[in-house]
Amino acid sequence: MRIDIISCQPDLLESPFSHSILRRAQQKGLVEIHLHDLRKYAINKYGQIDDYAFGGGAGMVMMIEPIDKCISELQAERTYDAIIYMTPDGQTLNQNTVNQFSLLQNILILCGHYKGVDERVRQRFVTHEISIGDYVLSGGELGAAVLADAIIRIIPGVLNDESSALTDSFQDGLLAPPVFTRPADYKGMKVPEILLSGDGPKIEQWRFEQAIERTRQRRPDLLGE
Ligand code: ADE
Repeated sequence: MRIDIISCQPDLLESPFSHSILRRAQQKGLVEIHLHDLRKYAINKYGQIDDYAFGGGAGMVMMIEPIDKCISELQAERTYDAIIYMTPDGQTLNQNTVNQFSLLQNILILCGHYKGVDERVRQRFVTHEISIGDYVLSGGELGAAVLADAIIRIIPGVLNDESSALTDSFQDGLLAPPVFTRPADYKGMKVPEILLSGDGPKIEQWRFEQAIERTRQRRPDLLGE
């Protein structure tokens, strides 16, 4: 998979992709991440990429021309399966959408800033509009990092123990059950006996019941309740 990210603050994205799982995924050749600085496509030598909104009002709007130039240059090299605009008024991200994106070859992510992008960018180029939650960030970069992380970690081969992505919260529409590790007794706080029993099927059944119980308590909406 290849992920291109267009941003006017690409430095913000260097760190999340240079550590741990995301770095290893790139080293293993499972994903390529390319950051593009929108200012390189500015309309003048002052690096201008935004302007006042027609009709007035506070806040700057990202102009279509730099974005058009950048996207067109990238599209001349390859076809994108999805051009995703990060925005608080997009569709709220969930595991289902992440799973679908993880099957694509080439993804382009556009990070918004200020009051957002000229609406014509959305009309002309964007295929998906994604929000990472009902709150407003100062830019789309952190949202893009969240989205890319969620996509990359489930690409086969990225996690060492592949089954662990399948047992994540949300993968089966349920929250994950509680987990424990050594010691079995810490200051009198004991691990549930069943997990020490060695009885695989019984443990699976217990985990399933715990997952349902946890989901019912914390996220009844996932059970349609
Ligand atoms: N940009 C600003 N707020 C955002 C959000 N909640 N999700 C995605 N991109 C954003």
